[in-house]
Amino acid sequence: MKPDFTRRLLQWNKSSNTRAMPWKGEKDPYKIWLSEIILQQTRVEQGWSYYEKFIAAFPTILHLAKANEEKVFKMWEGLGYYSRCKNLIATARKIASDHKGKFPATYDEIKALPGIGPYTASAISSFAFNAPHAVVDGNVQRILARYFGITTPIDTTAGKKEFQTLAQSLLQQDAPGIYNQAIMDFGAVICKPQNPLCNDCVQKKDCAALKQNTVSQLPVKQKAIIRKERWFYYFIIECKGKWYIRQRTGKDIWENLFEFVLFESTAAVDDITIKLPFLKKLVNGQPCQIESISRLYRQQLTHQTIHGRFVKIKAPETLPSLKDYLLIDKKQLAKYAFPRFITTFLGEPAAPAQLF
Ligand code: ADE
Repeated sequence: MKPDFTRRLLQWNKSSNTRAMPWKGEKDPYKIWLSEIILQQTRVEQGWSYYEKFIAAFPTILHLAKANEEKVFKMWEGLGYYSRCKNLIATARKIASDHKGKFPATYDEIKALPGIGPYTASAISSFAFNAPHAVVDGNVQRILARYFGITTPIDTTAGKKEFQTLAQSLLQQDAPGIYNQAIMDFGAVICKPQNPLCNDCVQKKDCAALKQNTVSQLPVKQKAIIRKERWFYYFIIECKGKWYIRQRTGKDIWENLFEFVLFESTAAVDDITIKLPFLKKLVNGQPCQIESISRLYRQQLTHQTIHGRFVKIKAPETLPSLKDYLLIDKKQLAKYAFPRFITTFLGEPAAPAQLF
């Protein structure tokens, strides 16, 4: 017998779900995969235009596998979490070489691909191949925690198992793709994290959290997120009409993206010009001129807050301390992918010149 939850979810989906998205009903696993990778940590409204841009530029997985890496990064610019983009390219190339460009068709094979976990493998295999695997992400956990009144923390091994088993038991076995899309939409439209539409909800009669008045307390998480504060001071050093940039490496935010000369601090630096031995060392006695210091910028990431300023400096001669940097023409800047923190600054009118 079909659980009441499932029956009502599918009924809501048929009669009231008007959520439109470009990948909805898509059967091509490559396109589904692309949409799912874009939507990891990204809102649908923000991901929509990126998805369309990617599909237009790389209509098949072989197009993506053959693409110039920097071009793909440039297209990803602004989406954040750049390791997703790196994995995207690596996976496209792996499918091109190991699977002759044909996207694998089973859950296990799909899950074995880099950057694909159980959630994404369930989404792709159910949407493209009708494989009976229930999607479980934070949205599904929230819906189930509320409806069933589950207080097991979602970020524990026991919690993960419990929600996975429950989700799988609720899946509509003969229409897993429709069911999975319906539960995602239900979480986005009705059972939202904040201000859920409980009055209009088709499940309200049996929702445990609604009965117990615990909707806003569920799901439970064991660990509170600890946010790190970081201060980034970027020196935009211009020399003979060219700017110094470099590519970020290492396991940190904005991996593979480009940036200017960076001084990072764990606290705000009050007077960037006087207090900075870093800057003195950089210019090593050369008569450099500070042209401007930007306003304070701030970007909120999932586990950290980035604060910072941009300091424009003119150097008459090249700086030997920056020999590992690229010195590029200002007009070439648009060819390189920068983090949003930097493109926001670059897109704003120049700050008035300041004298120090
Ligand atoms: N988030 C991740 N995948 C999604 C999808 N297919 N539809 C809506 N939101 C999503």
